[in-house]
Amino acid sequence: MPNSDLVLARTGGRELRRIIYTPEEIAARVKEMGDEITRHYPAGEPLLVLGLLKGSFIFLSDLVREITRPLQVDFLVASSYGSGTTSSGELKLLYDPNADFEGRHVIIVEDIVDSGTTLNRLVPLLRSRGPRSLELCALLHKHVAPHLALEPRWVGFHAPNEFLIGYGLDHSEDFRNLPFIGSL
Ligand code: IMP
Ligand code: MG
Repeated sequence: MPNSDLVLARTGGRELRRIIYTPEEIAARVKEMGDEITRHYPAGEPLLVLGLLKGSFIFLSDLVREITRPLQVDFLVASSYGSGTTSSGELKLLYDPNADFEGRHVIIVEDIVDSGTTLNRLVPLLRSRGPRSLELCALLHKHVAPHLALEPRWVGFHAPNEFLIGYGLDHSEDFRNLPFIGSL
């Protein structure tokens, strides 16, 4: 029911094109991903889950509770400048904890891989900090990026090439709190 009263109350009257992933579908998939990540890393080796803000905040908070082994959490706020269709822009880190990566397995958690621009600038920088391993976990992957510096090892959903909102994803900062993922 993309435009039920309940949905319209949440969106402030903005009509959605469709609901693509329901809260139940998301929760089931996030649990599977947590299980896969738990199995992937040898017990006893330090794991850092690094969320890219803001879009990953809901996904990350659900995901880390489905990873049933010790880990630590940190965040990074990155902003890309320049044309989205070229790689000439600058990567600006608005918040960078500069956590010590030496000897730690690092998982970058992204809400969505779209053009890959931000990731392609971020991955070399994070690699240079010497993590024991570096992997990417994305809730959504549109498969439109011509090149990715790091292919996601874990993908929640192979998403259609539409503008998606909800479950952390925004349109001009709105709609992040929708419990489902829909398109405008
Ligand atoms: P990329 O650099 O194009 O891969 O995407 C960078 C960021 O843009 C993502 O991490 C998202 O926060 C945002 N983004 C990309 N596609 C969408 C979308 O369909 N809806 C909402 N945000 C998006
Ligand atoms: Mg974003």
